[in-house]
Amino acid sequence: MRYLTFALAKGRLAEQTMELLERIGMPCEEMKGKSRKLIFVNEELKLKFFLAKASDVPTYVEYGSADIGVVGKDTLLEEKRNLYEVLNLGFGACKMAVAGKEESREKLSRSCNLRVATKYPAIATEYFYHKKKQTVEIIKLNGSIELAPIVGLSDVIVDIVETGSTLKANGLIVLEEICPLSARMVVNRVSMKMENERITKLIEALKKLLAEV
Ligand code: PRP
Repeated sequence: MRYLTFALAKGRLAEQTMELLERIGMPCEEMKGKSRKLIFVNEELKLKFFLAKASDVPTYVEYGSADIGVVGKDTLLEEKRNLYEVLNLGFGACKMAVAGKEESREKLSRSCNLRVATKYPAIATEYFYHKKKQTVEIIKLNGSIELAPIVGLSDVIVDIVETGSTLKANGLIVLEEICPLSARMVVNRVSMKMENERITKLIEALKKLLAEV
């Protein structure tokens, strides 16, 4: 039997995924210890797990380096890879939103030279250009996006809001909601055919478990 390989977005999503997999009888003991290792195996069940940067997970799965991936919907929308999205795992729930200062609300509704700072230019483009039919200037940043409207780099931001505490602490509010987000399981298109039985069984077991909680 060949290994079934999982690419997991390192951090909390990977931890929560391993908890679910353990509960359906697919644990990985090797992964529990603290180490800088990136690849772990369960020899008995022929499972392999690797930890990747979230935005790289869809790439590993599309190219077949991993059969299965677990990553946030935000990353899937941004990366637009050719994959099967098979399951909403429910955890990691948050939303993508347009945020800014209250006084930017009016400019947001009418302006066509609005500046939008974001780590998610594809999602921002889709939302403003295609959904709202509004021409804006999108400025790509790599983190701490909330800074942009405070220091005058942009009028608004497109970013993830979970508890809302980062916005609140910086005097910003949600102006428009774009979409809900959560962790998703994705599958490589060829793996879905070649390993159909194992993958289908896994999906069914996870669905059953998620229905219970
Ligand atoms: C994310 C996001 C927000 C924050 C939202 O940032 O970009 O800044 O979390 O969470 P909250 O609504 O619970 O405050 P992250 O901490 O991942 O780092 P980043 O700023 O580098 O993107």
